[in-house]
Amino acid sequence: MEIIISSSAREASAEAARIAAALIRSKPRTVLGLATGSTPLGFYGELAAMHARGEIDFSEVTTFNLDEYAGLGPDHPQSYAHFMRENLFSKVNIAHWRTHIPDGLAADIPAHCAAYELAIREAGGIDLQLLGVGSDGHIGFNEPGSSLGSRTRLKTLTERTIGDNARFFESPALVPRHVITMGVGTILDAKRCLVLAFGEGKADAVAAMAEGPVTADVPASALQFHSACSLLIDEAAAAKLKRADYYRWVYANKPAWQRA
Ligand code: GLP
Repeated sequence: MEIIISSSAREASAEAARIAAALIRSKPRTVLGLATGSTPLGFYGELAAMHARGEIDFSEVTTFNLDEYAGLGPDHPQSYAHFMRENLFSKVNIAHWRTHIPDGLAADIPAHCAAYELAIREAGGIDLQLLGVGSDGHIGFNEPGSSLGSRTRLKTLTERTIGDNARFFESPALVPRHVITMGVGTILDAKRCLVLAFGEGKADAVAAMAEGPVTADVPASALQFHSACSLLIDEAAAAKLKRADYYRWVYANKPAWQRA
């Protein structure tokens, strides 16, 4: 795993956006895997700004989001479909039909999940998967204990995640208990992964995912098996890494040809 420690979340988000933009320029039909939460807001802001300056064209880009709350329709203000429209899709020239988010109102959830997996495969697979990490080490909504080979399916949230996400709802009681999420196995199939994590609240999860043992207790640790995963973090999120100085040294000495 490549670990890039930036002086600020803003700088790390700009670096992630630069990597995504370079990919889209080299492959206009890029398939992006997208994430929600507060972490990727700066990344989406950068992409929108680049698009406004005429630096990226999304007209042939396809997207697949990681997850959605079960029971929330796309017009619900806390749905991830709404989040994506607000923070990215309405700001770039992406075709609505090329955007995919699990349907929180699907009547037959297993069939919907199987169709989502098939749609990813039919699109040629995900070229670049953006990820945040939960304070408990979850990716997507793959809570601790998730199978590291899991595919898109229904999951039940932990009380901790319900508590973490309650700030977006009027009360914790309104946070859905169930979600539809890509599995850890689905995520590992992406050709490249970019994980963003900012702030001291993510320091334990970052250390466990990057330097701890690979374990279903920390689903993000499965990314240690990915051959092209970069973790972009700020100083606060890096605070508990044992080898932080080495990661800084590696990045400072990164050969020019390896930079996106
Ligand atoms: C939710 C999302 C995750 C996200 C996590 C962290 O659980 N399903 O994809 O990484 O929140 O959220 P935040 O970025 O707000 O800390």
